[in-house]
Amino acid sequence: MCGIVGYIGKAPAAPILLDGLKKLEYRGYDSAGVAVLHEGKLSVVRKKGRVKELEGCLEPTGSVGIGHTRWATHGEPSERNAHPHVYGKFAVVHNGILENYHALKRECEERGEEFLSETDSETVAHLLSFYYEGDALSALQKTTARLKGSYALAVLCTDHPDSLFLAREKSPLIAGVGEEGLYAASDVPALAGKCHLLYSLSDGELAELTRKSLRFFRGGEEIEKLPLCVETMGDIPEKGGYAHYMRKEMGEIGSAIANSLVDFASEERFFDFNRVLCQTEYIQIVACGTAYHSGIAAKYAIESLARIPVDVTVASEYRYCDPIIRAGTLVIAVSQSGETADTIAAARLAKERGATVAAVTNVPYSSLTEISDFVLETRAGREIGVAATKSFNAQLALLYSLAAELARTRGRGGNFQALRLIPALSERVLSEAEGIKNFALGIAGAKSAYFIGRGADYCAALEGSLKLKEISYLPSEGYPAGELKHGTLALIEKGTPVVAILTQSALAEKTMNSVSEVYARGGKVLLVTSLPEYTDRKEVEESILLPRCEEVFSPILSVIPLQMLAYYTALARGNDPDKPRNLAKSVTVE
Ligand code: F6R
Repeated sequence: MCGIVGYIGKAPAAPILLDGLKKLEYRGYDSAGVAVLHEGKLSVVRKKGRVKELEGCLEPTGSVGIGHTRWATHGEPSERNAHPHVYGKFAVVHNGILENYHALKRECEERGEEFLSETDSETVAHLLSFYYEGDALSALQKTTARLKGSYALAVLCTDHPDSLFLAREKSPLIAGVGEEGLYAASDVPALAGKCHLLYSLSDGELAELTRKSLRFFRGGEEIEKLPLCVETMGDIPEKGGYAHYMRKEMGEIGSAIANSLVDFASEERFFDFNRVLCQTEYIQIVACGTAYHSGIAAKYAIESLARIPVDVTVASEYRYCDPIIRAGTLVIAVSQSGETADTIAAARLAKERGATVAAVTNVPYSSLTEISDFVLETRAGREIGVAATKSFNAQLALLYSLAAELARTRGRGGNFQALRLIPALSERVLSEAEGIKNFALGIAGAKSAYFIGRGADYCAALEGSLKLKEISYLPSEGYPAGELKHGTLALIEKGTPVVAILTQSALAEKTMNSVSEVYARGGKVLLVTSLPEYTDRKEVEESILLPRCEEVFSPILSVIPLQMLAYYTALARGNDPDKPRNLAKSVTVE
């Protein structure tokens, strides 16, 4: 959440900052701003809305600057709450949340200092001024020592026109060296094509970038850092002829699955991890949002194939439920970005309590990988659409591979054969799923929608519902089919759309009972099924027929039409599916 950029070098800073901010816009897009330092003066432009609002307004000269694209935490999206925040000689951009800012702000106000915004971040500029005695790095050191919470900071000081300062605690921050100068950004793609060396700051580290040098500090001492080895993540991809990243990324589901299937037994890099798998007696999965739904799908697969108990907990709750870790506990933290603050905190807690932690992530150099014992990389390729699509299918491919491996090590067969068929099947589903457009048009005016399924289908129901609500803004719920009659059935009236997912043959009749209950109350049913005998039933208004696959793996296919349904419903309601309101791709605040 929030993207920050910085530049110091030979070239005009403004276009470089603007380009970096556009590449980071998936992190937040309610307001944006840039500060450029030129001839001892700060030129600051801030705008409500998207980064493009800054175009044409920026100071053309000046070769050192900082920029920010915001996802509001403290204070409404507005020009005055947009970053950079300036006080005295300092300009600051911040990503994160300062938990003690009320006390710090009060302290500054007691000194008679006036605040111009409602943000926590402005406090940093005030503290920097307070601690400044001619040495900006030392002021930053003293300021960060006072901060509680999370921050990635980029700072300019008018007395130091040849320096850009950085600090990091629990929010990602990268520094880079290129031909044209030195750079900083929240994420690697903002720097792609510009830098030949990239460094990731760790928690508690500061950096000073000058026109010629890049120095890192920890606890007041200069330290050496090794550059990142970034092979996998290039520049931000183009939309490739699609109107939206989300639709383009759905088109990549087949390759995301194929690239993320892992044969743990035969790959040498998993030798140590395999030993852990053999000793694992209990698994806890922690994750948020879509990644949490991957965890639920994995629970069904691991428990049914390997008979190892699995608990799945939303990461923000795991931290406060006093988790019990016994010998033989493997904690799997699932996160596309590897930067989700709640998931990182849950993984950290699990580690402190003695668990072995494996990260399942799409970003191998992320903060989550730094603290995990093992990294299981999904290879979905960069995902730009804020709503997760192909990364979900990739997580399932990897977690199902894990389930198969756990089963194999317990002498229960592996089902790898069934997994290898899935990429090709997913391509078939994708072309069929376009047929959902009509149903999407039909529900675009509805008041709410419901998704139901039993067993593994329940996981697809949860994900289908999340997708729909986050990009179409249509209130929606995913329910275990059998639970509907315990309350939610009261909300079904004539025309209420209900999506039933039906791929588990042993449970099909039971789910159809729930469908009949919905139909009897006037509900309009879309059936997503791999069981053709149910598509003609009178209760079914429309259906999508999926190819058969190993039933416990079916969410990896059944979710595809649901992603498509969300996409077309969002379009029908006039929304931008790539940038849903109030959301951001990488949730780096708790
Ligand atoms: C929904 C979505 C979010 C993320 C969640 C976790 O489409 O994208 O629910 O799944 O914010 O993000 P990661 O996987 O990066 O930890």
